[in-house]
Amino acid sequence: MNILIIGTGYVGATTAMVFAESGWQVTGLDIDANKIERLRQGQLHFHEPGLEQLIDKHVRSGRLLFTTDQETAITGHDVIFICVGTPSRPDGNADLRYIQQAAEDIGQWMNGYKLVVTKSTVPVGTQEQVTAWIQAAQRQPHPFDAASNPEFLREGKAVEDALRPDRIIIGADSPKATEQLLMLYQSFHCPKILTTPRTAELIKYASNAFLATKISYMNELAKLCDESKVNVNEVARGMGLDPRIGPSFLQAGLGYGGSCFPKDVSELVMSAREQGVQLRILEQVMEVNRSQYAYLLDKARSRLGDFANKNIAILGLAFKPDTDDIREAPALRMIYDLLLEQANVRLFDPIAALPAHSSFDTVKVCTSAEEAIQGADAVILCTEWTAFGQLDWEKLKGQLRQPNFFDGRNMMDARAMRGIGFYYQGIGNDY
Ligand code: UDX
Repeated sequence: MNILIIGTGYVGATTAMVFAESGWQVTGLDIDANKIERLRQGQLHFHEPGLEQLIDKHVRSGRLLFTTDQETAITGHDVIFICVGTPSRPDGNADLRYIQQAAEDIGQWMNGYKLVVTKSTVPVGTQEQVTAWIQAAQRQPHPFDAASNPEFLREGKAVEDALRPDRIIIGADSPKATEQLLMLYQSFHCPKILTTPRTAELIKYASNAFLATKISYMNELAKLCDESKVNVNEVARGMGLDPRIGPSFLQAGLGYGGSCFPKDVSELVMSAREQGVQLRILEQVMEVNRSQYAYLLDKARSRLGDFANKNIAILGLAFKPDTDDIREAPALRMIYDLLLEQANVRLFDPIAALPAHSSFDTVKVCTSAEEAIQGADAVILCTEWTAFGQLDWEKLKGQLRQPNFFDGRNMMDARAMRGIGFYYQGIGNDY
């Protein structure tokens, strides 16, 4: 079997690497000629630790090819993974236009049996739509199977997650499709769940929505901790030792961002609503998350009186460390509000950049954390980049106009920061 990957973003590029690492012959197809040209040189068009080296390795070995030629790519491969983006539409539903396009392209160029596997996160029932789109686009009937095989990788940890997944979900209606997918994943020894495409599709949404729920739950609890003289980090540690709860995703902060959680929760809520089911917990999860950044901003405003003409250093822009992804990053909302309130915003992120948009024209983008904090009335830490924790804050304190530190990720030791003279506030970690 040789494998075609349609879409070479985070999921597509990583999937291509994984199958090449497992010994298969892989081709990545994308409509973006620039991306493909860079990938052909073994270069990635986004930041993902360790991925570029592995892609480069397989481009050199010839096991990984990249192309923009749809016809040759589709006719020449037996197994096709759809890894294109599924953004949210303004109404919160998933926009399946790229999935539809990929399915129609496959139908149009199909020349014999194909196994078509959707890896992108898609609403329940999409596999049936993919089947219909392929059939409608076929010039003459060819047999095919459409399966669902959701991807669970995290940005920043994509290589580790994809090479050592904790489970592989195979949603297929036909034994032939299941068998082929099991063969493709034969070198992986994690649990493999064989199920229906609909179940596979829901497992992905349900997992992400549950993780988002853990985060919003802790973020709400953090507010109670602030009022109750309790430290939310210690509560999380105590809770996490219960194996039924587990220690991960209990970190209170500015809320979740990124390309997955916000859109997946909203799509699940919307698609449930269309079926007459109200997912009330998830509606609140979204609301808690949407307003979480404002909780820290309120603390800073109370301290400073107002933000007009105050110098505010924002440390971190990416939605989390080790990525340059700023999609749905709480830092963006924070900066936007600060600018509305006439603050002078000075920003530093090790790799993420502000979007080219006139709303952010007045932000001073700095090349180091030290530069960003010069003359600041307050530091607001939005992303827990390791380097921020390693700075000599005792020394740096003198560079600020007022030593105010608002920690949106509870990254610093509150007691230590106060000990060196900062007015320090985090999220539920005061005590
Ligand atoms: C997520 C899922 O983890 C992954 O399985 C899925 O396939 C895609 O979505 P990703 O978006 O890369 O991956 O980020 P993740 O590491 O899960 O973090 C998501 C957000 O939650 C980040 O903004 C992070 O800062 C926040 N978060 C995470 C918290 O606020 N608290 C936590 O305890 C954990």
